[in-house]
Amino acid sequence: MDIASIRENAKKDIQNAKDAKAIDAVRIKYLGRKDGALTNVLKSLKDMSLEEKRKIGVEANALKLELEGLIEKKEKELSAKGGKRLDVTKPGKKVALGHLHPLTKIDKEIRDIFSSINFTIVDGPELEDEYHNFDALNIPADHPARDMWDTFWVKPTTDNGEKIKVSEKSGKLLMRTHTSPMQIRYMETHKPPFQIIVPGRTFRYEATDASHEINFYQVEGLMVGPDITLANFKFVIETFFKKFFGKELEFRYRPSYFPFVEPGVELDIKLPGGKWLEVMGAGMVHRNVFDAVKYDRREVQGFAFGMGLDRLAMIKYSIPDIRLFYSGDARFTEQF
Ligand code: DAH
Repeated sequence: MDIASIRENAKKDIQNAKDAKAIDAVRIKYLGRKDGALTNVLKSLKDMSLEEKRKIGVEANALKLELEGLIEKKEKELSAKGGKRLDVTKPGKKVALGHLHPLTKIDKEIRDIFSSINFTIVDGPELEDEYHNFDALNIPADHPARDMWDTFWVKPTTDNGEKIKVSEKSGKLLMRTHTSPMQIRYMETHKPPFQIIVPGRTFRYEATDASHEINFYQVEGLMVGPDITLANFKFVIETFFKKFFGKELEFRYRPSYFPFVEPGVELDIKLPGGKWLEVMGAGMVHRNVFDAVKYDRREVQGFAFGMGLDRLAMIKYSIPDIRLFYSGDARFTEQF
């Protein structure tokens, strides 16, 4: 076959090839090492005269390159077409989902666990007054324990400059420094027996570091009835922590001081293989607190507790710095 007809036939064959197998057959037919049409021409060069060699050799080599290019192009076309076929056995593409903030997850878990043991979940205001945040909790203005809560005081004026009326009893406005004022608000409007938790945002006027933020979250607990004791507290809180962290936990109670409880305790837990970690303050509701909400202290008693939600999240997920929660960094939240 001469070069011209090889080119013509090969081009036709390439064009007509319908699949990978067919194009492979075309390659073998023209370029196959043993008996390809063009290969044979190239092999026969050695028997030709110098003049023929020059002419045909150049043409044959050019055609070889041309055909290789065309075949490769056709192969690509065919495989692209093949890729469009629906392969129902292929695994699906993963859809990128959003992530819940770790504090949101912890908050939900805590609510679920306490709901499951019959606690009511209550919400309270972040803008508080001095009376509920301090006085009614047995922390009067001159009480040294007020120093435990560095406070953001709020000017009693609106954006328009109007004065917000505050009674002498309620005192100055502030951003609540803990969730404990909801103990007072709840008891002012409800009769015992009851058991509640109050998850919520709290504020402190503090320098921030790895374990302090000016804005953080707490969960308050309060259970009041005719015969509630510290034994009930132990049972409730140990049930909670075992569900929250898993079964193998040890507990340690240390005497402590908070103005609104007597006696006051602090609770430490020991995770499997870990060291002791302080997780909350608690105690039996102080008689002055019951007096403030006009409960008869001879008829009721109860326990209260307060814990830091950020701290629990840090322990549970081994987060080294509280500020990460509020960094808005997606690389952080995407891990949860
Ligand atoms: N309100 C306390 C704080 O923010 C925590 C606390 C301690 C709450 C003891 C309680 C309690 O209800 O009994 O530091």
